[in-house]
Amino acid sequence: MASYKLLLLPGDGIGPEVMGEVGKLVSWLDRQGVASFETETDLVGGASYDATGQSITDAAMGRAMAADAVLFGAVGGPKWDSVPYEARPEAGLLRLRKDLGLFANLRPAICYPALADASSLKREIIEGLDIVIVRELTGGVYFGEPKEIVTLENGERRGVDTQVYTTHEIDRIARVAFELARKRRNKVTSSEKRNVMKCGVLWNQTVTALHKAEFQDVVLEHQLADALGMQLVRWPKQFDVIVTDNLFGDMLSDVAAMLTGSLGMLPSASLGAEDPKTGQRKALYEPVHGSAPDIAGKGLANPIAMFGSFAMTLRYSFGLLEAADLVERAISNVLEQGLRTKDIASAGQNAVGTSEMGDAILREVQALAN
Ligand code: IPM
Ligand code: MG
Repeated sequence: MASYKLLLLPGDGIGPEVMGEVGKLVSWLDRQGVASFETETDLVGGASYDATGQSITDAAMGRAMAADAVLFGAVGGPKWDSVPYEARPEAGLLRLRKDLGLFANLRPAICYPALADASSLKREIIEGLDIVIVRELTGGVYFGEPKEIVTLENGERRGVDTQVYTTHEIDRIARVAFELARKRRNKVTSSEKRNVMKCGVLWNQTVTALHKAEFQDVVLEHQLADALGMQLVRWPKQFDVIVTDNLFGDMLSDVAAMLTGSLGMLPSASLGAEDPKTGQRKALYEPVHGSAPDIAGKGLANPIAMFGSFAMTLRYSFGLLEAADLVERAISNVLEQGLRTKDIASAGQNAVGTSEMGDAILREVQALAN
């Protein structure tokens, strides 16, 4: 039986609560003999800062490097608002992305039919929605240098962040988008601000050149990032795969999340380059929702994005496609049966807590497996 090393980093806020639910599923799959999962758990974010003074330790980084996949909960919260910038909870996540080389962030936004009424948009606009945002994750303004606040001679202070992309970085993320589109509805929309930014001009030229050289069978469209934000809420079904930079991808994927009814629904995969020898990629899977400090510790969080992220782990890192389908079908069935956490309940509908939702998904997986 195949054996996989899985590192769990629950983090802060609702991270540990939603991770706990998925932990039950991992143990069950292990007991069933679907595969053998060797799991380790470590600290990240504010939890790590409180224990060690760092948002992630070298030891935890070492475990992440050695793992076949990392499952990540969430980081951050008001408790750590005043910690030094270098040690803020988010720095742990950014170090994981950078040091593991996870340049490709896949954020699918799927609207389950049962949830069409939970979205703030009209049913006809989002029913049947199935799009993926491919976000560049290790470049752009997140990591560009200089990145600083300096004091000028006149005593004023100046903040500087640097947006920077090389052709190699644009090329490899565009390739991920084109290859993904070939397995889907064969359309890529590339997004930047070429009307204002040099990086946007280079992004546009590089994606266009790659398309011409290798992917002419895929439909390619360009939209300015502001217009794309508008189109996402106007008629999102026009899209299949959207490819964009780190910052635009951050913003647009939160918008896309709400199309599906709730931020609590959106999973994501962050992938590195394929190792030429083993064919493996470094990978980290995380829900898009973040730590939600307002509801943390109350047992109210929706664990579906975390389950969805684990389904992506099974699919992309372990090649356990049947098990991945099982988890995704279980999520869909539980929603069909009317089960709702608070974030996706409509007015007057009863809401269940995190562990009731987790247990229901696990029961449904078990029922489907028999
Ligand atoms: C995300 C988050 C992160 C980001 C934060 C927590 C650093 O918003 O994954 O979308 O900005 O990338
Ligand atoms: Mg974000």
